[in-house]
Amino acid sequence: MKQSSRISGWVRKTVQGLSPYASARSEFSETGESVVLLDANESPFENGINRYPDPLQRQLKALLAAQMGVDPGHMLLGNGSDEVLDLVFRVFCEPNTDAVITLPPTFGMFKVLAGINAITNIEVPLDPDFQPDVPAILEASGPRTKVLFLCSPNNPTGNVAEPDRVRQLLDAFPGLVVVDEAYIQFASGPGLERWLEQYDNLIITRTLSKAYGMAGIRLGMCLAHPEVIGYMNRIKLPYNVNELTQRRALEALRDKAQFQHNVEVILSERNRLAAYFERCPIVEKVFPSEANFLLVRVDDAALRYRQLVDAGIVVRNRSGQLRCENTLRITVGTPEENNRLMAVVDRLKSIENEKA
Ligand SMILES: Cc1ncc(COP(=O)(O)O)c(C=O)c1O
Repeated sequence: MKQSSRISGWVRKTVQGLSPYASARSEFSETGESVVLLDANESPFENGINRYPDPLQRQLKALLAAQMGVDPGHMLLGNGSDEVLDLVFRVFCEPNTDAVITLPPTFGMFKVLAGINAITNIEVPLDPDFQPDVPAILEASGPRTKVLFLCSPNNPTGNVAEPDRVRQLLDAFPGLVVVDEAYIQFASGPGLERWLEQYDNLIITRTLSKAYGMAGIRLGMCLAHPEVIGYMNRIKLPYNVNELTQRRALEALRDKAQFQHNVEVILSERNRLAAYFERCPIVEKVFPSEANFLLVRVDDAALRYRQLVDAGIVVRNRSGQLRCENTLRITVGTPEENNRLMAVVDRLKSIENEKA
């Protein structure tokens, strides 16, 4: 893939001139029997974690990249996708000058990160079908709107962005397009990694926190043009993914059967819960979901949220989000947890009886 001149034009001036910290383990990472490592001021006493981890996580990237069918040069790993998203801001957005575009209702972290990084957040609401409003996005964009954030499947609505619309945005948006695919393993269609060779402005973020069941180890990633990855590597902290995380992720990723099984259980439980809520008197609408949660519109979200908490079940009230009035976002649990949820909901009375 050729060097892309437009990418360097989007990078913050300070980042363009930076040379990364050269850590001992990036200069020399082998720990073979005959090698004596006296270069990093580590403890010499072997306990499995006395050495700094590989700053570029080469072994882990090789496995992930092979499983996803992408080149490791297109990949950056971070402390959750939260860190990766933050790096996007810090590489490309000039504080107090640049802007990003987000599409509410969507994942709240995009807006939070814009605030933290002193970047203007321009909100262009999703259309009534929760799809990106392409003309409105392009109308809002300009030389200062460096990044557009899409989320597909979207949190909290659960739907996938139509590929045609994403393509139109990649073709016409004058900056980078981040597509957060945290829930892609639960979707019926493929992710967008097959478009990486074609679009130098596409950044896909993924995480091991959802379908892979490893929220506790904090491992996220992005897939992008190697030049974008190169700039992100320049500013990431040298040892951003710790040794225990790298090891645990390698172990889990090798067990493909367990991953497959878990995803299948969640998908069949999602269908079971959706069918249940469809005929539930307190539910007005079940939004179609391609994720591991359901967004449901109920008669009175604040009341139902409180009743569920009182019964020991915690869901998320999303009523404050645009076009999400009276909605609860309910994560799909184990079959036993879902049975418990349904048993509690069965006992809730309709609003009229509640008030009587
Ligand atoms: C759309 C989306 N992206 C990213 C994340 C966070 O991912 P991570 O745990 O890798 O930081 C979440 C978590 O809820 C999410 O909903």
